[in-house]
Amino acid sequence: MQRYKNFINGQWVHSGSGKNFSVNNPANKQQKLGEVDIATEIQVREAVKSAKTAFGKWKNSSPVERGSFLQEVANVLEKNCDDIAETCTKEMGKRLAETKGEVLRSVTILRYYAQEGMRDVGEMLPSINPNNTLYSIRVPLGVVGVISPWNFPVAIPIWKIAPALIYGNTIVWKPSELTSIAATRIVQCFEQAGLPKGVINVVHGGPSVGDAIVTDPDTSAITFTGSNKVGRTIAEKAAGLNKKYQLELGGKNPAIVLEDADLELAARLVFDGAMKQTGQRCTATSRAFIHESIYEEFKSQLLNHFKKIKIGNGMEDNVDMGPLASSKQLETVKNYIDKGVSEGANLLHGGNLLENDPYERGCFIEPTLFDQVTNSMTIAQEEIFGPVLSLIRVNSYEEALKQANDTKYGLSASLFTNNLETTFHFIKNSEAGMVQINGETGGAEPQAPFGGMKESSSGTREQGQAAKEFFTAFKTISISNNL
Ligand code: UN1
Repeated sequence: MQRYKNFINGQWVHSGSGKNFSVNNPANKQQKLGEVDIATEIQVREAVKSAKTAFGKWKNSSPVERGSFLQEVANVLEKNCDDIAETCTKEMGKRLAETKGEVLRSVTILRYYAQEGMRDVGEMLPSINPNNTLYSIRVPLGVVGVISPWNFPVAIPIWKIAPALIYGNTIVWKPSELTSIAATRIVQCFEQAGLPKGVINVVHGGPSVGDAIVTDPDTSAITFTGSNKVGRTIAEKAAGLNKKYQLELGGKNPAIVLEDADLELAARLVFDGAMKQTGQRCTATSRAFIHESIYEEFKSQLLNHFKKIKIGNGMEDNVDMGPLASSKQLETVKNYIDKGVSEGANLLHGGNLLENDPYERGCFIEPTLFDQVTNSMTIAQEEIFGPVLSLIRVNSYEEALKQANDTKYGLSASLFTNNLETTFHFIKNSEAGMVQINGETGGAEPQAPFGGMKESSSGTREQGQAAKEFFTAFKTISISNNL
């Protein structure tokens, strides 16, 4: 059985305690993919020390050279696209087309940040004293702790690691336990491109490993994507230690479909928004507010999409939806569906676990559509992270907007309309970090800031130029020329 190790100071090392966990295929839980060595607290400490030592040299290297290095990583990742996509599909279940798309998206992210190595790193400022030279430069933070989830096992770590590195930081990365093999493959690409010793370290394990990274006196900043519960703990600890932190958390993303919308487009994109990646995206559409005048027509078009969906192993070509990523995820999603039924929502489609041949060995569940949902029900308020969509009937745009905003989350929100006035009203008044007009709630482009309002983030943004804000600090310099 293949053993996956920690990567500390340029070496692949076994667990200091001999402890490990196994990774299994969620499409066939009997297929064990490998064993992963859990890092001890001492090893986390070593990883941080190694990143700290490497920081001295890395921060003083030329950003242009760091950019060339990221270009090379992009090329290696691109060459290994098929293989890494297969690794991800086997580890967390999503379809091969989705994992391939994700790897290629990560290649683009790397190329975007490679170019950052040639862009401005500060600004010249006028001074009150005409003989002073006053300017600011962007400096790296130091060792950054990266804690990443399993739902985008390549893109999310890359959109944290690439900007961290280009601006001169070094890294200790704890990937999700579910996607430890993908993490190994990613680091091997960095190695192949000539990664200097200690610039990226990987430590495997659960919350205690994450905690050791956050509390280590030598980590300067933490970037985290995952659940609100874990995010809150990280924020409290990081704030107590006066470290910079960035959290990308949950969503309960609404799509509003108005009477003048292109219904065919809206039905397809609401469906895609809810079902892509088996609903396991923080940007997934989970509440659809439908104007009563088009409710029945929209519902019937949406149901046609639900009826056509083919569920199966994500490695197979004709499959539209893979399994959920783990048995734990399956249980959580099923509990939410049961709660929806018990709170009085009407189960229009799906709702069952798939336990018979050929599904009995995997974490499969039917794509699920509820109607007669009210916005106060649990399924309309809590993040499900599965293929479950709730339809809510509304009698006006104003009512839809009010309910769409009535959630603790604020990541993404869609509006389907052809009315310009309503469009601009929504752009101004939607309480979401990402607003989509006639588009699905999911998706992010590397050059644009990504993140949410309210409890969906720590108020920070990832990607695009926003990443510079997080991964650097200003140093202001004043040179007096009065001699
Ligand atoms: C996307 O919708 O393509 O974990 C990106 C997530 C988000 C990223 C979504 N942080 O689902």
